[in-house]
Amino acid sequence: MYDNPYEYDIENEDVVDDITFWAEAAKRYRAKRILELACGTGRLAIPLSKAGFSVTGLDINKGMLERCSLKLAKEGEDTQKNLTLHLCDMRDFDFNEAFDLIFIGFNSANHLLSIEDQLRVFKCVHKHLATGGRFMLDVHSPNLSLLAAAMDSQTELKLVTDFYVSDSGSRIQQYNSRKYSPEEQLWSMPKKSNSKASEKMRTTTDDVHVYFPRELHLLHMHSGFEVEDVYGDYSFGEFNSSSPRMIFVGRKV
Ligand SMILES: C[S@@+](CC[C@H](N)C(=O)[O-])C[C@H]1O[C@@H](n2cnc3c(N)ncnc32)[C@H](O)[C@@H]1O
Repeated sequence: MYDNPYEYDIENEDVVDDITFWAEAAKRYRAKRILELACGTGRLAIPLSKAGFSVTGLDINKGMLERCSLKLAKEGEDTQKNLTLHLCDMRDFDFNEAFDLIFIGFNSANHLLSIEDQLRVFKCVHKHLATGGRFMLDVHSPNLSLLAAAMDSQTELKLVTDFYVSDSGSRIQQYNSRKYSPEEQLWSMPKKSNSKASEKMRTTTDDVHVYFPRELHLLHMHSGFEVEDVYGDYSFGEFNSSSPRMIFVGRKV
């Protein structure tokens, strides 16, 4: 997964609502020092640095971070000074520094497949959060009809992405299917894709964890956080049964 950071940015160039959300959240919680876990190519971290926040970003994928550095190098001096990047695992980091806001945006927490991995992240976050600081986590809310349709059996491969990259002339096509395993809350997405029309399709499988609200409450309670708010969208709307997102705000107890 994430073996082509350039394509990742092209695929997600229209996702912008969460950029405004995180800048507003940083203001709302008076965050001077921000840590983004799984910052990837800097889709969120760079705009936050540009807005004047001091941001540290970490990611486990070298290629994603290299692309982030490349994009950062094109920004002004102040933005560059505001962003520090680390190649490391969100399950195990130690910066000897405290942050006012630590967040995991855009479904990155779905990559934590086991309870142990999830608890390891919460533990590291707890250690790095300043008194009164906030931990925020943004994932999809579980879509029961989608999950039911893919329950225990693979859905058909469907063409979900088909576009040309104008500067390289290459074509990106993706066929996805889905399978949901309820006992592990695992969403498997076999994917066929290529980067050029002439290229053979590659098949890869992305597995992600599907979170339910009570589970996130328990992870917070167990790890020394009280849940202050749960937002259901990028406009700070309250979470309810039709919300597209689950955005938890935890305070260190
Ligand atoms: C959906 S992307 C999000 C990137 C960025 N935050 C954004 O909003 O565009 C998920 C990111 O999680 C990273 N990731 C997955 N597991 C990780 C881990 N254990 N530690 C750190 N980063 C991880 C991936 O490398 C990838 O960059």
